[in-house]
Amino acid sequence: MLSYMSAKEAAQKWNISQRRVAILCSEERIKGAMMVGNMWIIPSTAEKPIDKRTIRYEKDKVIELKPFVKWVGGKGQLLDQLEKFIPVDGQKVLTKYAEPFVGGGALLFSVLSKYDFEELYISDTNAELINAYNVVKYNVEDLVDMLTTMQLAFLPMDENGRKYYYYTARDRFNSLQITDETAVEKAALFIFLNKTCFNGLYRVNKKGQFNVPMGAYKNPTICDENNLRNVSDALQNVEIVCGDYTLSKDFIDKDTFVYLDPPYRPISSTAGFTAYNVDCFDDNEQIRLAKFIDEINLCGAKIMLSNSDPQNIDPNDTFFEDLYKSYTITKVEAIRAINSKGDSRGKIKELLICN
Ligand SMILES: C[S@@+](CC[C@H](N)C(=O)[O-])C[C@H]1O[C@@H](n2cnc3c(N)ncnc32)[C@H](O)[C@@H]1O
Repeated sequence: MLSYMSAKEAAQKWNISQRRVAILCSEERIKGAMMVGNMWIIPSTAEKPIDKRTIRYEKDKVIELKPFVKWVGGKGQLLDQLEKFIPVDGQKVLTKYAEPFVGGGALLFSVLSKYDFEELYISDTNAELINAYNVVKYNVEDLVDMLTTMQLAFLPMDENGRKYYYYTARDRFNSLQITDETAVEKAALFIFLNKTCFNGLYRVNKKGQFNVPMGAYKNPTICDENNLRNVSDALQNVEIVCGDYTLSKDFIDKDTFVYLDPPYRPISSTAGFTAYNVDCFDDNEQIRLAKFIDEINLCGAKIMLSNSDPQNIDPNDTFFEDLYKSYTITKVEAIRAINSKGDSRGKIKELLICN
């Protein structure tokens, strides 16, 4: 006679959570599992299913998701290199993903396209950016309506008309505080400015006002509605936090893959970084981050940190080698799109620091 085990027993046997067993049963991934009353029973001989989280989805099931804003330091062109470090094929099944410096989220959206993490966490200190993530998550149709209106108004205009429209939108953006009533408009203006400003930069003055001039794009896509809707669906499972990366500590545990992409370390005091610059991540900040990384390393999380290699400029600068002595550092090649000087583009090395 066939004998059965409870979901709790299966969870213990396979070393996964009871909740995960129930999900696998309801997805019919465990042969012979049955619902009796409100509990699952599982044949004692059932094998632990190969969890789809440990393998890539079939290509034809992938819905390609792209960042909905351009972002300085965006990792779009490093994706292939970064993805090699995501430990999805190994023995250890990671169920959670955290990206505490999310920015445009190049890796986040690639991960959301391809892998089935159960819980995800993103954060950033940029309140405008996080407002846009929340509006895409909770209010995408209103956002698409506003962006479509802006796109239809802006694209047919001549140079002078566009300038007037852009600087009026910038003034309006700077005059609005984020509240429940203004959140959608603020997010729409934020995305509009991002798509039409110079190089997709986000820069503010001492008063915190966005001050990037208009860019010179012929036909910018202001409203990519398919991508916005797909991103909105994918974000339903993601906790979105505005604040310092250390707030992610409570989320991170031994089942979490954490990708950290902090702002670049200013190479020298002449690099143009100033105290009000939100992207100032000086040596003290790097040391504070290294301490945090030691803490999450102790909880057993799998960590990947990226940073520009200071040896691109000074071959004797061993700042990161000294800071991350007990971690594995790999150098990969990147093309820096925008840097602090804005004039030197080309191949540079990027550091990937992993535990
Ligand atoms: C290099 S960018 C991340 C780029 C991102 N990987 C992408 O693909 O677009 C760094 C981000 O960290 C954010 N940031 C700066 N200080 C932070 C802090 N203390 N905690 C969390 N985020 C912070 C910045 O606002 C910026 O969006």
